[in-house]
Amino acid sequence: MKDNYGRTINYLRVSVTNRCNLKCQYCIPKSMTYKENEKALLSLDELYQVIKAYCEIGINKVRITGGEPLVREGIIEWISRVSKLPQIKDLAMTTNGVLLKKYAKDLKEAGLNRLNISLDSLDPDSYKSITGGGQLSSVLEGIQTAQMVGLAEIKINTVLIKDFNDHCITSFVDWTKKEAIDVRFIELMPIGEGIQWSKDRFVSAETVLKKVPELYKIETLDQSSPATYYQLPDGKGKVGLIKPVSCKFCNRCNRMRLTAEGKIKYCLLSEETFDMKKSLRNEKEINGAVKKTILNKPKDHQLESNSYITTNMFNIGG
Ligand code: GTP
Ligand code: 5AD
Repeated sequence: MKDNYGRTINYLRVSVTNRCNLKCQYCIPKSMTYKENEKALLSLDELYQVIKAYCEIGINKVRITGGEPLVREGIIEWISRVSKLPQIKDLAMTTNGVLLKKYAKDLKEAGLNRLNISLDSLDPDSYKSITGGGQLSSVLEGIQTAQMVGLAEIKINTVLIKDFNDHCITSFVDWTKKEAIDVRFIELMPIGEGIQWSKDRFVSAETVLKKVPELYKIETLDQSSPATYYQLPDGKGKVGLIKPVSCKFCNRCNRMRLTAEGKIKYCLLSEETFDMKKSLRNEKEINGAVKKTILNKPKDHQLESNSYITTNMFNIGG
C-alpha cells in the first residue's frame, strides 16, 4: 500500500519485548529494572494478528526486534507461525547475538531468513564495559553457529562511540576482508538514554573513511536501506555507513514500527504513535487501523540539530 506521499510501505519492524539481556550504557538507564513493563506487552498472538493485517495490505518484509527478541518466551514457535504468512518474502531479526549459539538452528528451522547483529566492539574489555558485563566470545560463537546452520547473510551494526570503540574501526573493516559479512557503522542518535551520549561521544561516520581510505563507494540494489555502502578492494563483505539524522532518507522510507506495547510508530525520529491496543477486538477493526496508520505516516522527520526523541531505543527496537 502507498502512503500519502507515494511511498510504498512494505517493511514492518516488530519489537517483541522491551527487555534486554545486556545493559548497553547508551541505550538502557543504569537505574532501569525490567519488571515494570512486562504486563503492558501485547501477547504474541496479538502481535501476530497485527502483522497478518499489515501483510494483507502489502507488507512483505518483517524484522523482529526488541529489546532483545530472543529473551521473549515462546519466540521460536511464534517465528514459525509468522514465517508461514504467505506474503512475507524476507523475515529478519536484529539481535545482540548473545543467545544465538543456543537458538541459531531453531531460528533457521522456524523460517528466519537473516540476522542483523548489534556488536559495538571487537575488544573483549570494551565490549564488556559498553554492554554492562557482556561476553564478546558468546556473540562471536553465536555468529559462527548462525553461519554454520545456514543463516549466512549477516550484517553487523556497530554504533560509533568516542573513546569506547573508535579503536576497533579497522578491526571491524578487516573482518569484511576475510568474510562475507557486512559491517555497518551507525552514528549515535539523540534517542532516550542516548541523548547525552550523542552529544559527548559522537563520532561521525566519515571517520571510518578517514581511518580506512582504501574503502571505495559501491551502489547496492536495496534503495530503501539506511546505509551507504563501501568496500575494500579485495573485500568479501561490505562496509555501510548509517547517518540517521544528518542524512535523511525519509523520501525512500518504506517502514512502519510496531512496539511490544502495541504502539505503531510512524517514524523512528518522531514521537507520534498510534495505539493499536484499542483496535484489537476483531479482525475488521485491526484491518481498518493498519490502513489508517499507513496514511498517517509523516512526510519526513523534523529532528533538528538540538532536538531529541525521549522514548528509549529498547522500547522502539532501532
Ligand atoms: P536491513 O533489512 O538489513 O536493511 O536492516 P535495517 O537497516 O532496516 O535494520 P537494522 O535493525 O539493522 O537497523 C540499523 C540501524 O539503521 C538502526 O539502528 C537505525 O540506526 C537505522 N535505521 C533503521 N531504520 C531507520 C529509520 O526508519 N529511520 C532512521 N533515521 N534510521 C533508521
Ligand atoms: N543511536 C544509534 N543507534 C542506537 N542503537 C541503540 N541506541 C542507539 C542510539 N542512541 C542501536 C543498537 C542496535 C540498533 C537496533 O540500534 O545498538 O544496533
